Amino acid sequence: MKSIPYGRQHITDEDIKAVNAVLQSDYLTQGPEIPKFEAAFAEYTGARYAVAVSNGTAALHLCTLALNVEPGQKVITTPITFAASANCVRYSGGEVVFADIDPETYLLDIDAVRKMITNAPSGTFAGIIPVDFAGRAVNLEAFRALADEHNLWIVEDACHAPGGFFADTESKQQFCGNGRFADLAVFSFHPVKHIAAGEGGMVTTNSQEFYEKLLMLRTHGITKNEDAFQNTLEEAIGETQNSSLISQNYPIWYMEMQSLGYNYRLTDFQAALGLSQLKRADKGLQRRRTIAERYKSAFESIPIIDRNNDPGHAHHLYVVEAENRLGLYNHLREKKIYAQIHYIPLHLMPYYKNEGWKKGDLPNAEKYYERCISLPMYPTLTDAEQDWVIGVVKEFYTR
Ligand SMILES: Cc1ncc(COP(=O)(O)O)c(C=O)c1O
Repeated sequence: MKSIPYGRQHITDEDIKAVNAVLQSDYLTQGPEIPKFEAAFAEYTGARYAVAVSNGTAALHLCTLALNVEPGQKVITTPITFAASANCVRYSGGEVVFADIDPETYLLDIDAVRKMITNAPSGTFAGIIPVDFAGRAVNLEAFRALADEHNLWIVEDACHAPGGFFADTESKQQFCGNGRFADLAVFSFHPVKHIAAGEGGMVTTNSQEFYEKLLMLRTHGITKNEDAFQNTLEEAIGETQNSSLISQNYPIWYMEMQSLGYNYRLTDFQAALGLSQLKRADKGLQRRRTIAERYKSAFESIPIIDRNNDPGHAHHLYVVEAENRLGLYNHLREKKIYAQIHYIPLHLMPYYKNEGWKKGDLPNAEKYYERCISLPMYPTLTDAEQDWVIGVVKEFYTR
């Protein structure tokens, strides 16, 4: 059997054709593929606006910039996530406050967050960054209600969960990043994610104000929107001595840098790949759900806890809790099955320990970390390959 990773991209001939077409076109970047991808992604999530960026980390950073996170402001997030979910707060000088996870869902525990907010003086926290970890959608309706009570913003880290949903109080499916509950949501197009663009990211929002800010911040804080120009026409033309040159309009070349932004642009060939992949995202998600069902029924008789039983789960990762996790991990590796561990609790990373966090601060996250293991989960994993993985896991527990 060939080696099996925990996740991988799926590139089709259609994808290659789409990228090739852009490579042979006039625009490698800042061209027409970007708005096409953005419009299709907004439609897919149900959000009003989408802004494509260079990666998910840049997307998170732009969110904290758009929200004006300032030095000293406190933001709550989960310790069971990729570092970027928390680091984006630090980029803007804010302080990361980790709240524990719910041991049943592995998501940020809303009760822990509520307790944290209500026990602190009013105005202590600026916002919350819940993460749709492993592809399981956070109940953002509940988080929105809590955030509104305390005047907090929400950035949904939906990097694991395009197509995922939670059921609201009226049993309606609310899709990740749909803009209804979170102020902003972010996605990543890293190759292990549902939609691969090499690198890439997206921010979705229903707010026109955030949308316009994000567009500027993605490109150095520069705008070409004449209605928003701050300098006078004379300043724009730069020839105040020659009044005959002053026309009614700002010259075509003119643009203004109005705030300190970055170059967080996605290229057009990445956007073309992302768009091509987006077209079959539902098919990929369906296959992930089938793989999840097959795992679930296979593991009923062995000492593995499988909590992947949520109908809206987008199954980016297939996380289970295993007895003798290290032994299982090594056994799988011997057979060239490269399971992974998601995640080492962030508050125990040396960087965050230096910020004052320590073992014992978040017991649910720490207990989860002792047992979690992510088994292979990607649409091109064949039934035969999955059966091989299942057989090797079972063999470990029955030998
Ligand atoms: C939950 C989460 N947030 C943010 C990111 C950052 O995305 P990117 O790798 O595209 O910068 C990742 C990527 O692994 C992630 O898993």
